[in-house]
Amino acid sequence: MKKIILAGAGLLLILTGCTNVTTEQQSGEQTSEEMQHEENMDMNHENMEGMEEHMDHDNIPSLQASKGTQELVIPPLLEKQKDSDLDYEVVAQEGTTQFFDGSLTNTYGYNGNLLGPTLQLKEGETVKVKVRNELNEPTTFHWHGLEVPGSEDGGPSDVIQPGESKVVTLKADQPAATLWYHPHPHEMTAEQVFKGLAGMLYVEETDEEAPALPHTYGVDDIPLIFQDRLFDENKQLDYKNLMNNDGTIGDVSLVNGTVNPKLTVTKPLMRFRILNGANARNYTFRLSNDASFTQIASDGGLLREPVETDEITLSPSERAEILIDFSAMESDEPIAITDEEGNALLPFDLEYDGEMKKMESISWPDNTTFLSEEEKSLPVTKEIELFGMMDKVTINGKKFDPDRIDLRQKKRVLEVWEVYNKPDEMGGMLHPFHIHGTQFKIISRDGREPAPNELGLKDSVLIEPGERVRLLVTFPEEGIYMYHCHILEHEDNGMMGQVEVY
Ligand code: C2O
Ligand code: CU
Ligand code: CU
Repeated sequence: MKKIILAGAGLLLILTGCTNVTTEQQSGEQTSEEMQHEENMDMNHENMEGMEEHMDHDNIPSLQASKGTQELVIPPLLEKQKDSDLDYEVVAQEGTTQFFDGSLTNTYGYNGNLLGPTLQLKEGETVKVKVRNELNEPTTFHWHGLEVPGSEDGGPSDVIQPGESKVVTLKADQPAATLWYHPHPHEMTAEQVFKGLAGMLYVEETDEEAPALPHTYGVDDIPLIFQDRLFDENKQLDYKNLMNNDGTIGDVSLVNGTVNPKLTVTKPLMRFRILNGANARNYTFRLSNDASFTQIASDGGLLREPVETDEITLSPSERAEILIDFSAMESDEPIAITDEEGNALLPFDLEYDGEMKKMESISWPDNTTFLSEEEKSLPVTKEIELFGMMDKVTINGKKFDPDRIDLRQKKRVLEVWEVYNKPDEMGGMLHPFHIHGTQFKIISRDGREPAPNELGLKDSVLIEPGERVRLLVTFPEEGIYMYHCHILEHEDNGMMGQVEVY
């Protein structure tokens, strides 16, 4: 264990070890503006036949800034059942939610009206979860990022019919991480998530190995589920009329399902676990005062080392954990998490008592050999080609077929997947690529080392048009797993394949 001393000066000291890496990031990585710009150039071809509906990225609706009138809802923790051989119960159900004064919106939720409770598992723990479908349509329960056998993974073949239930066994045999759960029914994932089905799933450190990170749920350790939604004139989430085949993008920003949220901050040092839970929108998060913050974790757990940054881009399904040290900021300036356009998505009300939390040290696991030279030079054994847009999306030229196994890989064997996002005559578009049942490592992007905040376990990776990304992939369990684009409409349109792990 490497000890990083954290004294009164707050987070600055954590970062003394990685100044050189931060510099690499600046030179090696495009800023989101550059990315956006290229994308705009690529996408700026209208009037192509049959492409009217294609999401023109010049015209992505801006998010409305939060008025800060509602205290942010913190999803409840899912309570363990007493006197039962089952540990938890998760029920998909219909409900209504008041997003706007004077109207109720029909929504879906787990154990409630919207979104779901946070399920916390301890590293190494095994739990039995009863999942029940009280919707009027089939659904599945997928544990995104959890390395469970294919039989428990809740992919599209694992349908729970209305009124039915099933018990799944979840073993958290992987490092502490911020994961999530959501439905995955064949061709209906986008609609069910859009209507509100999603929840956080944490794997927590055992007490012995926990770095001294803030960890009081809802106090200094806050889940933030960012989503955008489009409402019709009746303030309904009428998916069939609102949806776009290239990804449904809205102008209303929700954080944990709250419209116009604000968060009252009661501790000077805060940990935020950010999930991009949108169907299709990419977010670049900044602070309104341009202050820097510290990213500590990616999708699958702690980064090789903490990374100081002033922006984070997350594509749909990606997560990042960050620390913000509010005591280092001027107390009277308004501070908010903003998007790349500067719209305040989550304003903060600072009400901590002024004292920096005394932390003697943060122990950071020694990950300096995150990727060995040997791993980096393994040959490519699986080639994946992402292509298309709208309902013409494919992987390796094919659409999803539940009866076809596309790839096979031996359990616990390391393989290199090269994922290529093939441009088309319109330039192509960004695709977030996700694999079930594994936490992989990014070896390279177009032959270059990934940014420091991608030196951590991942289950989703954003790939630009024309880019080739090499991933080091291993599956600890057996079964059939999906890999797909996590723009949910692309997934539903067949941009998905199956790998059988044996
Ligand atoms: Cu979020 Cu197929 O997964
Ligand atoms: Cu998944
Ligand atoms: Cu896609």
